[in-house]
Amino acid sequence: MAVVIIGGGQGGFQTAASLRAEGYQERITLIGDEPGVPYQRPPLSKGFLLGKQEQRHAELRPAAFYETQRIDLLTGRVTAIDRVARRVKLDSGEQIEYDTLVLATGARNRPLPHEGVFYLRTLPEATEIRQRLAAAQDVVVIGGGFIGLEVAAAARTLGKQVTVVEGQPRLMARVVAPVVSEYFRGQHEAKGVDILLNAVLLGISEKEVLLEERTRRPADLVIAGIGVVPNVELAREAGLPVGNGITVDEYLRTPDERIFAIGDCAESPSMFAEDLCRLESVQNAVDQAACVAKANVGHRAPYGAVPWFWTDQYDIHLQMAGLPTGFDQVVTRGDPESRKFSVFYFRGGKLCAVDSVNRPADHLAARKLIGAHATVSPDQAKDESFDLKVSRAE
Ligand code: NAI
Repeated sequence: MAVVIIGGGQGGFQTAASLRAEGYQERITLIGDEPGVPYQRPPLSKGFLLGKQEQRHAELRPAAFYETQRIDLLTGRVTAIDRVARRVKLDSGEQIEYDTLVLATGARNRPLPHEGVFYLRTLPEATEIRQRLAAAQDVVVIGGGFIGLEVAAAARTLGKQVTVVEGQPRLMARVVAPVVSEYFRGQHEAKGVDILLNAVLLGISEKEVLLEERTRRPADLVIAGIGVVPNVELAREAGLPVGNGITVDEYLRTPDERIFAIGDCAESPSMFAEDLCRLESVQNAVDQAACVAKANVGHRAPYGAVPWFWTDQYDIHLQMAGLPTGFDQVVTRGDPESRKFSVFYFRGGKLCAVDSVNRPADHLAARKLIGAHATVSPDQAKDESFDLKVSRAE
């Protein structure tokens, strides 16, 4: 018996750790293509850029953990999966047999068709950006999503002139409602960040970026965060179905019963969305890993964790619970002016997601409500005297 895990990110690491925590005794091989021990990415675009956190703070466990837990940590690239012989092939020529294979191959940055751009996903990339930030004056960030805005906040905090170039009419449009986008635009602008919306990047030179309508901005450092592409090629070449990610069922299993896929690379049915969904979050990677680990020790259950996310920009802590896809009504609890408020999203009258700005109690209540498939009414949600812990199950 052996489990082989491809991908040494949060999901891959957690699968190995959860298997041991669940009492799995057989061989575990964790194959990652980055040297060193697995690390967490969230600090890389926050405290790490500010110099408040170092590499060792990002490491998920020290090297000794893998020895004591008998987890074989391999650095290398898997080049093929032989589903008939049940083994994976590495670029070194090595072949490793599996009884269960877990694909936790993650995602990679979507590139821009321009030279001279830096991207932030890995520790070496974050290290390079941190070094370049120290010498930079004018920083241009392409993409006003999570990465872009966290990097912009860090760069501005370090005293740089910062421009954010976002292609959509509002910030973080993929994940939040207009009221939240507006709030973040206001906060960044109040800090002195130049936010350009509906912007189209035409070119980048050594000294500036050129945008449509003859807009130019000086730039001695250009960083892009324009989304990610899931790493699905290995699965596709092995004949597994792939849509917007490696397609798995509610048990996170591909049609090959020995192969699972989790985290950023996988699309699965969700109890909180109408269609298959592929989530890019730490919570999703960790909880899906735990689900697969349990299945491997005989506790098979459909994946049903409530999705949640967070981002930190300056002193603003935004926590998101649930999935707002298909929402048709939004109400706000609290006053954005007070810097503490939550936005409740409803789909067909039922609560589907809540974004909380500096209101952690609302976030926790929302996770419980959504997890219990319960709801509050829009009127109750905006009434601050209404206790969110008192809810109505559907
Ligand atoms: P994202 O999808 O959150 O944001 C990308 C942004 O770039 C979008 O606003 C999009 O409209 C914009 N964009 C796309 N093409 C563009 C172009 N050509 N010109 C201008 N704007 C363009 O992805 P992001 O920020 O790159 O993050 C990458 C991954 O890292 C995601 O999986 C994200 O969830 C994850 N992440 C999560 C964080 C969190 O949860 N706090 C923090 C940082 C990253």
